[in-house]
Amino acid sequence: MRSALVLVAFASLSYASTPLARDVSAKLYTACKNPGHVALTFDDGPWTNNKKISDMVSNAGGNCTFFMRDCIYNSYNSTNYTAVIRYAIAAGHQIASHSWSHKDLTTCDNVTMGQELDWMNTALKKVAGVVPAVIRPPYGAYNDDVLKACGARNMSVVTWDSDSEDSWANANASNSKAAYDRQIRASQGSMLILNHETVGKCNEVLAYALEALISYGFQLVTVAKCLDIAPYLWVGQPEKTEPLLQYTWVCNNSGATS
Ligand SMILES: *[C@@H]1O[C@H](CO)[C@@H](O)[C@H](O)[C@H]1NC(C)=O
Ligand SMILES: *[C@@H]1O[C@H](CO)[C@@H](O)[C@H](O)[C@H]1NC(C)=O
Ligand SMILES: *[C@@H]1O[C@H](CO)[C@@H](O)[C@H](O)[C@H]1NC(C)=O
Ligand SMILES: *[C@@H]1O[C@H](CO)[C@@H](O)[C@H](O)[C@H]1NC(C)=O
Ligand SMILES: *[C@@H]1O[C@H](CO)[C@@H](O)[C@H](O)[C@H]1NC(C)=O
Ligand SMILES: *[C@@H]1O[C@H](CO)[C@@H](O)[C@H](O)[C@H]1NC(C)=O
Ligand SMILES: *[C@@H]1O[C@H](CO)[C@@H](O)[C@H](O)[C@H]1NC(C)=O
Ligand SMILES: [Zn+2]
Repeated sequence: MRSALVLVAFASLSYASTPLARDVSAKLYTACKNPGHVALTFDDGPWTNNKKISDMVSNAGGNCTFFMRDCIYNSYNSTNYTAVIRYAIAAGHQIASHSWSHKDLTTCDNVTMGQELDWMNTALKKVAGVVPAVIRPPYGAYNDDVLKACGARNMSVVTWDSDSEDSWANANASNSKAAYDRQIRASQGSMLILNHETVGKCNEVLAYALEALISYGFQLVTVAKCLDIAPYLWVGQPEKTEPLLQYTWVCNNSGATS
């Protein structure tokens, strides 16, 4: 029994062979630090809109940040997310963690929480050759244990100070445009804006938002740039080069185990 437990503990460490630091709370950022900066962020992908969003932000002369979750390797059969993620990185956008399966981490025991963090980092390391230094916990929900689990992995926790309202129950394009107008007017020098790349019905809002933000004088940058922190803990060659649909990854509750 004892050796089985030890194996489980090692399996959850996946990418890090060094022991985790104890009791180091993650740095928590709720807003950009640099005046004039806007960090547009898109949660819950990768999804079929990723390349379109990436191109729209690039064409506007900016960069953005994608907080990604599980199944980036084989769950959505029509789009090659390996290629999509590498494309976004090559365009200058930042890939960050949204943890593995979108659990409310404040309700997870420490083992589950560790899996949620490590599986996502392992997946991004293997698929895209990056280990993210930034995580947005699902629902923006954190407590001391979440901050410690992220801190032990040298990750910073980033929430938001502005909301496109694209995931609200009454979300529609006009409500989101109004939310942008209102929050740009109320902004105090910078904005860290929550969007969801999986909310197709509000995508038309992005063109509007890009124009409004730029004409207000904002520069569109990654979360890392607006906070003056590194985007990644590790950058190297991706390990996975085989085609997308071969089920070499386990994209369900077993996590990224290979
Ligand atoms: C992807 O393909 C697999 C195997 O053919 C299938 O079981 C699964 O339902 C498909 N997933 C989606 C999201 O279409
Ligand atoms: C976007 O990223 C590219 C590539 O890293 C960089 O050259 C460019 O300066 C960035 N643009 C902004 C507005 O930060
Ligand atoms: C979870 O881990 C933290 C340290 O990261 C510790 O303070 C806390 O007591 C642990 N919780 C449980 C239920 O073991
Ligand atoms: C975290 O940073 C410390 C100090 O740089 C390093 O020793 C440790 O290996 C890092 N841990 C992880 C999981 O990256
Ligand atoms: C959007 O939703 C609001 C209610 O929240 C409604 O008043 C408005 O008519 C809707 N607009 C469109 C274009 O559907
Ligand atoms: C998906 O993209 C990756 C990276 O560009 C490539 O190596 C792989 O062959 C692609 N898979 C398929 C099924 O096209
Ligand atoms: C996850 O997928 C693997 C491989 O397809 C399968 O063996 C395993 O039973 C699945 N686990 C769950 C919890 O669905
Ligand atoms: Zn989310």
